[in-house]
Amino acid sequence: MSRGNSDSTSMQSSAVINEAVQTLRDGGLVAFPTETVYGLGADAKNPEAIKQIFIAKGRPSNHPLIVHLAAPDKFDQTQIDWVALLAPWVRDLSEEALKLINAFWPGPLTLVFKKGKSVLNELTGGQDTVAIRAPSHPIAQELLRKFKGGVVAPSANRFGKVSPTSAADVRHEFEGMLDLMVLDGGDCEVGIESTIIDLSSGDKAILLRPGSITPSEIFAKTGVKVYQPGEVKSGNEVTVDLPRVSGSLKAHYAPTTPLRLYAPGRVLDALSEFPDIKSRVAVAVWDSESSLVLDDHPSTDVEEVIVSSDPTTFASRLYRSLRDLDQQGWDLILFPEPPAGEEWDGVRDRLQRACFGSGPSSSNHDNN
Ligand code: TXA
Ligand code: MG
Repeated sequence: MSRGNSDSTSMQSSAVINEAVQTLRDGGLVAFPTETVYGLGADAKNPEAIKQIFIAKGRPSNHPLIVHLAAPDKFDQTQIDWVALLAPWVRDLSEEALKLINAFWPGPLTLVFKKGKSVLNELTGGQDTVAIRAPSHPIAQELLRKFKGGVVAPSANRFGKVSPTSAADVRHEFEGMLDLMVLDGGDCEVGIESTIIDLSSGDKAILLRPGSITPSEIFAKTGVKVYQPGEVKSGNEVTVDLPRVSGSLKAHYAPTTPLRLYAPGRVLDALSEFPDIKSRVAVAVWDSESSLVLDDHPSTDVEEVIVSSDPTTFASRLYRSLRDLDQQGWDLILFPEPPAGEEWDGVRDRLQRACFGSGPSSSNHDNN
C-alpha cells in the first residue's frame, strides 16, 4: 500500500489487499489497477461511499458508474456461474449477453443491462440500467473476490482529465486533496478504458464506447452483431438526453497543453495554426515513418516523439505519453491522425476528445 508516498513496487501483498477490502467495507475509497486504467473504487451498496467518488472526481452525479465484479474461481474460468453472480444486479440476462460474457469476461468489456431492483440510483445516475464489468487484472480480481461484492469504479482521474495508467498517476491526480489508498499493479496493459456495449435497449447490442475489444472481434468470437449508435433508431431509448456515457462528452481525457491532430504529412499546416515562432512544440511521429523534415520552420522549437504504428501498443502508451508531455511544458502537442479502421477506433475516439478538451482551461470545457 502507499498512502501519498511513492512506492515503486508493482506487487501487492495479501495483507495490503486485505486492508483495502476493509477500507471498502468501512465506506472508504480505494484506487486499484485494472487491465485498462486505474479505477477509484467504492462499495456499490454504500450510497455515502458512492457520493464520495463523485466528490473526489468532481463528476456530475448523473454520470453513471460501472460495477466491477469478480470471477470467483480464478483457476477454472469455464466453470464460472455468471448467471448467479449477476442475478442481484441485472433484471434479465439474454442469450446474447451470456455469449459476450463467456467470450470476454474477465476482460476489458463493459455490458449495460436493465438494472435489478436493489441497484442504487446513486450509482446509475437515476437511470434504469446498470453497467457491469469483470476486470482481469490479478490485483483487481483478488480485491473483488475478497470483498465479495460489487465495487463501483470510475477511472481514477479528476473529471474530464486523462485517465491514470499507473499508481503514481493516481497519486498525482489527487495530490493534496485526498488521502487515498492506492494499490499498485504497475502499468496498465490495455491503456484505454473498456469497450462498452449496451444490451439494455432491446434485441440489439449497441457500441457506446470503443475500446480494445472491437465489434468485429465480438462478431468473430460470438456471432453477435454490434451496432454503432447511429445505426439504430429505436425510439427514445438511445436518444435520451442523459449523458449515458460521460466519456461521450466531446471534451474528455484532456491534457492542459493544447493538443491537435495532423493529417498525414501535414505537420506544417498544424503548426501554422500556432504562428508564434517561439513556440515549443512536441510532435508525435509514427515509428514506421522517417523523421520529419521541418526546415521550413527553423525558429520553432520542435521535438519529435516516436509513437507506435501498432494500435494495441499505441493504446497502451497513449495516456502515459499525454501525461508526460503535459508535464514537460510544451506550448503545443501534435499527434498524427490515427489511420482508418476499426482497430484504431478506441484511440481515435480518445485522441479526438482529448484535443477538444485540451488547453489551459480544459477543466471548464466539460459542460453538458
Ligand atoms: O475500463 C474501464 O471501464 C474503467 C476501469 C476503471 O474499469 N472504468 C471507467 O469508468 O472507464 P468511467 O466511470 O470513467 O467510465 C464509465 C463509463 C461512463 O462514461 C459512464 O457514463 C458509462 O460508463 N456508463 C456507466 N453506467 C452506464 C449505463 N447504465 N448506461 C450507459 N453508460 C453507462
Ligand atoms: Mg473516465
